[in-house]
Amino acid sequence: MTVEEALATVEAILGKESLNDLQEIIFRCCWEQKSYGEIAESCGYDADYIKYVGFQLWKKLSEAVGEKITKSNLRAALRRKTQLTNRLPDTKNMNNGSQIAEVNIHTIQNRKSEIQNRTDWGEAIDVSVFYGREGELATLKQWIIQEHCKLIAILGIGGTGKTALSVKLAEQVQEKFEYIVWRSLHNAPTINSLLTNLINSLSNRQETSLNQDISDKILQLLDYLQKHRCLIILDNIETILSSADTSGALSIPQAGHYREGYEEYGELFKRIGEIRHSSCLVLTSREKPKEVAALEGKTYPIRSLQLFGLATPDGKEIFTAKGNFIGSTNDWQTLIQSYAGNPLALKIVATTISDLFAGDIAKFLAQG
Ligand SMILES: Nc1ncnc2c1ncn2[C@@H]1O[C@H](COP(=O)(O)OP(=O)(O)O)[C@@H](O)[C@H]1O
Ligand SMILES: [Mg+2]
Repeated sequence: MTVEEALATVEAILGKESLNDLQEIIFRCCWEQKSYGEIAESCGYDADYIKYVGFQLWKKLSEAVGEKITKSNLRAALRRKTQLTNRLPDTKNMNNGSQIAEVNIHTIQNRKSEIQNRTDWGEAIDVSVFYGREGELATLKQWIIQEHCKLIAILGIGGTGKTALSVKLAEQVQEKFEYIVWRSLHNAPTINSLLTNLINSLSNRQETSLNQDISDKILQLLDYLQKHRCLIILDNIETILSSADTSGALSIPQAGHYREGYEEYGELFKRIGEIRHSSCLVLTSREKPKEVAALEGKTYPIRSLQLFGLATPDGKEIFTAKGNFIGSTNDWQTLIQSYAGNPLALKIVATTISDLFAGDIAKFLAQG
């Protein structure tokens, strides 16, 4: 029995619920008796994730066939099933091993490029000019890739770099995900329109669930998060929280409640944080949504990262990118620290110092 015949059998057994791209890759590789580690390496995922998807796949197949299917009895069980149902006769056309291996590597490479293409950046900003944040990026990557966190909030005052960091993060982890969707909530969309938008993006505009109610749409989104490894980034969550300080000045993060009419967002975040899946939702906000406050913890898959300003050398880079500035080490330190390293504030003050003080930091500081 060839792997193509086995796949045809599986398609026939599963009917409408056929395998997704990653499940098919795993099926093909397990058919060739590759280890989860080898599969992970060839498709650029981590082994735990591949194992998890594999486990779900065997479970689904076992239920459909009515017999326990595992990675090790896969060939025998499917051959039995084929003979029993006589859906597909055994072929005399057995490929030799090296041909099969070649086809598989080719398929994996093709599928990998398809997988990597499924990114939808929406209105994400350009972060080609980006300084520092190595520590924050390392922490976030550890939470997402190694610890499989499902819900992460990046918190901080306006201008501190949450949006920029979220885009940089998505760029750096994108090959670990099948889908990446980045959306800003700056216009405070209703949950209905956000869900429609996300489902449209994840289904490649195949599903227009316009008539469904919100709980159905939440279920549909969760279904995508379970079937595919998705990274969804929602920027500017404070627009849907009731105590949002729209002035942007030093608002202290607190357990945020939702604006009237936006309460179902809380339900969505809670479900994403609690149900079993290997996708991840990253939120950025000036304050902490109450579900994150309630569910987060060192050993829970829900975390929050409080973002502060840039370190002095990284803040200095923002000035250097704008023009020529002169100042002693002390001047630089005083200047950057007086704006708490806030990149937006530093960009604005750099323009002022350049235009009004010919780039002389000491003169600017002397003005008080
Ligand atoms: N690490 C960084 N390096 C360079 N520029 C940055 C960095 N972080 C933020 N910025 C810039 O500072 C400004 C404010 O950042 P932004 O991400 O919009 O802040 P927030 O989302 O917290 O309000 C933007 O122009 C952004 O490009
Ligand atoms: Mg922002």
